[in-house]
Amino acid sequence: MNASHFIVARDDLKQSKFIETALPESRDLPEEGVLVKVERFAFTANNITYAMAGDQLKYWHLFPAPQGFGIIPVWGFGDVIVSRHPNIAEGERLFGYFPMATHLVIEAADVSKRGLRDAAPHRQVAAPVYNVYSRVGGDPAFAGRQGDYQALLRPLFMLSFLVDDFLAENQFFGASSAILSSASSKTAFGLAHLLHTQRQPVRVIGLTSAGNMEFVRSLGCYDEVVSYDAVSSMPADRTAVFIDMAGSGKLRGDLHRHLRDRLTYSMRVGLTHMDAARDEPDLPGAKPIWFFAPDQIRKRAKEWGPGGIESRFGNAWGGFVPMLDRCITVTESHGPAALEQVYRDTLNGRVAPDQGHILSLAE
Ligand SMILES: NC(=O)c1ccc[n+]([C@@H]2O[C@H](COP(=O)([O-])OP(=O)(O)OC[C@H]3O[C@@H](n4cnc5c(N)ncnc54)[C@H](OP(=O)(O)O)[C@@H]3O)[C@@H](O)[C@H]2O)c1
Repeated sequence: MNASHFIVARDDLKQSKFIETALPESRDLPEEGVLVKVERFAFTANNITYAMAGDQLKYWHLFPAPQGFGIIPVWGFGDVIVSRHPNIAEGERLFGYFPMATHLVIEAADVSKRGLRDAAPHRQVAAPVYNVYSRVGGDPAFAGRQGDYQALLRPLFMLSFLVDDFLAENQFFGASSAILSSASSKTAFGLAHLLHTQRQPVRVIGLTSAGNMEFVRSLGCYDEVVSYDAVSSMPADRTAVFIDMAGSGKLRGDLHRHLRDRLTYSMRVGLTHMDAARDEPDLPGAKPIWFFAPDQIRKRAKEWGPGGIESRFGNAWGGFVPMLDRCITVTESHGPAALEQVYRDTLNGRVAPDQGHILSLAE
């Protein structure tokens, strides 16, 4: 039997293809290794960013591919189909970071009731969070539609949660409003939801493309929605922090020149606008700074103690899920052709913001 993998050219994401490799026999697995069948996974603009930053942030190292190609990591579910580990049963369901493929071999380590870690040497170059798998069989929070939400949004909402916490901790750098770009993205509206529900009177302003304005308004978590081409006509008498999911040099330049010193913090988070113009040096206002989530996690883990992040995140997640039932339509697609179509649509920015794609490479 073979495993199938979806691979993309690292220097030209428009080139992609499927390759097959032989599935290892049980005896070929590493000692205490398990073979996992990748059951289903989510795909959003964030996965394109993993590919764009594949060299810089070492995402390409996690799931090796032939020379010049890479396998894009995705969040989702897999079932253990062969186990050489005494404490992991065949049929066990895992949630974590998987390749866009039908199978994955994991070198299981640190196995506990709650999860395990892949100790394969090539995976140790990336942040530890990417190598951890949760044992979620029988957990209703990870089953059915709730499971789809976890795969689609949990990793994104962790970023939303950390940015909200960071801004609140810094009293929004003295600003009275928060401006979010790519306001229709799941990461942005997760953050807007948190700001709207817990940080008033800070005003939450969403910047989006003209075609997505209706959707962003319908979310109900932005006080104001502005299209990209109207940024320079926004009121300029307010102070603001900017949380940039789009990564467009032009948009950033327009906003900085418009608000100047009233822009008290400029945070870079994402790169949804891949055709983004190059960065401009010496912009007026606060200097743009990349937000590095692991730094905030480390800080809060120390301050809040064991389980402190998890319990606060769990509460925040509980408040977010009802919004998803209202705003996201989950679409499940199976097989190589459907997977490739969703990949291309996401790469080209052709996925409607209310869509949440769940994919499986198996037919
Ligand atoms: N730094 C981190 O740790 C971290 C963590 C999570 C997410 N992020 C980043 O946050 C961003 C949002 O990710 P997501 O998964 O939440 O996105 P998503 O829900 O798939 O976002 C879709 C939206 O992004 C914009 N967009 C997507 N592709 C585009 C394209 N090719 N051209 C122009 N616009 C495009 C559009 O929004 P508009 O029309 O509103 O612009 C679109 O409605 C990504 O850049 C992601 O990498 C970063």
